[in-house]
Amino acid sequence: MYLFGIDIGGTSIKIGCFDGEGNLLEQWEIPTHPNQLFNELSSSIQFYMNKKNITRNEIFGFGIGLPGIVRNGIALSCVNLGWEQTDVQKEFSKALGFDANVYIFNDANLAALGEASYLNKEKDTVVFITLGTGVGGGILMHGEIVEGTSGLGGEIGHMPIDNTYQFVCGCGGIGHLETLASATGIVRLARFYQDKLPTCLTFEDTLTAKDVIDAAKQQDPLSNYVLDEACLALAKAMASITVIVNPSGFIIGGGLSNAGEFLLNKIKTKFQEVCLKQTKTIDIHLAVLKNNAGIYGACAYLIKKKHEVEKNGKC
Ligand code: BGC
Repeated sequence: MYLFGIDIGGTSIKIGCFDGEGNLLEQWEIPTHPNQLFNELSSSIQFYMNKKNITRNEIFGFGIGLPGIVRNGIALSCVNLGWEQTDVQKEFSKALGFDANVYIFNDANLAALGEASYLNKEKDTVVFITLGTGVGGGILMHGEIVEGTSGLGGEIGHMPIDNTYQFVCGCGGIGHLETLASATGIVRLARFYQDKLPTCLTFEDTLTAKDVIDAAKQQDPLSNYVLDEACLALAKAMASITVIVNPSGFIIGGGLSNAGEFLLNKIKTKFQEVCLKQTKTIDIHLAVLKNNAGIYGACAYLIKKKHEVEKNGKC
C-alpha cells in the first residue's frame, strides 16, 4: 500500500511517497504554477506510478497541505496562489483520472501534525510556525489542531503586528505579520532599506530572502537590520500567542528555517525582548523534519485513516 504526502507552497510543491508503515520511499519537488497546478501535480504522480509500476489500487490515498484557509476539505482562500474558493479534492481527483481518498489541510496544520507525531508529542500543546512565501501557524492544543469556527485558527500570518511599515498583505490587510516575517517580507524590507543602509546586496528582480540571510551571516549591515526587524515582528506575534494558548513550545519550519541556528538565535533574542517574563524559558526550536514536516504530517494522517478503515471497513 502506498500513501502520498503533498505540500503545496508558493514556489514549489513537495511530494513524498510513503509505504503503509510510514517509511518515506522517495520524495521530489516540482515548481508551483497556480493555473496548471492540478494537471502538473497529477502528471508528476502518474509519471512516478508508471516508473515504479504502482497501480491505482495500491494507493490508499493522498494528503495535501495548502497555503491557505481550509474548511471541510475546501480551500476557502489561498492568497499566495491567487486562488479564491477551490474544491481541491474534486479538481485533483479529476486531473488524476481515478477515485482515491484525498484529504485537504492547511499546510501549517499538516506540518504541526507531522512534527508532533514524529516527536511523539501528539497530546501536547505546541505551536508550529511555517516561514515561507507566507507565514502560517498550526496550533496543537492537547493534541488537537485548533481550526476555530471557520478554519481561521492558527492563521498567524495575518496578525496585525506592525505599525511602522504598514505594507499591504496579500490578503489586502495592512501591517500583517506576513508582510515582514515571510520570505517575501524579508525581500520587501530589504528593498525598503535599499538606499538607507550600507549593503553588499544588489537589488535585482531575482533578489531572494536567502540572499539577504546569506549576506546577514557575513555581517552585512542592511541584511542584519532587516532580519532583526522580521524576527522582532515574529517574536511579538509569538509573545502574544504564548499568553493566549500557553504552549509548551514553538516549532519553526518552512523554507526560511533552512537558515538554521542563525535565524533561530535571532528569533530567540527578539522573543526575550518582548515576551512576558514567565514565558522566557519557553522552548523554541527548529522543525526536526525541516521542510518535510508537511509531507510527514500527511503520511501520519493517512496511516491513522488506514487503521480506521482496517478496523471499521470504511473511510
Ligand atoms: C496563509 C496561510 C498559510 C501560510 C503559509 C498564509 O498566507 O494565509 O493559510 O498557512 O500563508 O503558507
